Amino acid sequence: MRHKCHLATATLLASSALLAACGQGSDTERLARLGLPPASYQADAGRGAEVYSAKCRDCHGPAARGSDKGPPLVHGYYVASHHADLAFYRAVKQGVVQHHWEFGDMPAQPDVAPERVADIIAYVRGLQAKQGLR
Ligand code: HEC
Repeated sequence: MRHKCHLATATLLASSALLAACGQGSDTERLARLGLPPASYQADAGRGAEVYSAKCRDCHGPAARGSDKGPPLVHGYYVASHHADLAFYRAVKQGVVQHHWEFGDMPAQPDVAPERVADIIAYVRGLQAKQGLR
């Protein structure tokens, strides 16, 4: 299962390098097209908690502990060492085809901006750390 994740991440990185090589516009515009925030963006875990509640909690559960519609994100699968932050940006931009669990696919969340994903990551990494997950 890890191979699939890493292959997708490699594909995203490769397309990012391609865009950087031949793309037009500023770095910030290129990053936004990839669903990534500006490099200088400072994530805000408090705002992440609010956006999480509005957009993710229905499936990933209160405090990211899972529900009957989606897996917990406070879980060994989703720590930074296994699912890098890129996996979060990609999940929100492209959705997720079911592969680790039996909940079905995750639909893309097109109205969640890259900066808000950065906020959500900060919130979820904080919850993971509290559970001793790294
Ligand atoms: C409609 C339900 C639903 C919503 C809403 C939802 N997710 Fe998911 N998400 C899922 C399911 C189901 C999976 C597990 C897919 C699998 O691995 O089988 C998943 C997986 C993920 C993953 C793991 C991706 C990977 O590469 O394996 C991340 C990260 C994630 N979701 C983040 C989010 C965030 C952030 C939000 C809110 C902006 C969100 N999800 C909203 C259902 C949902």
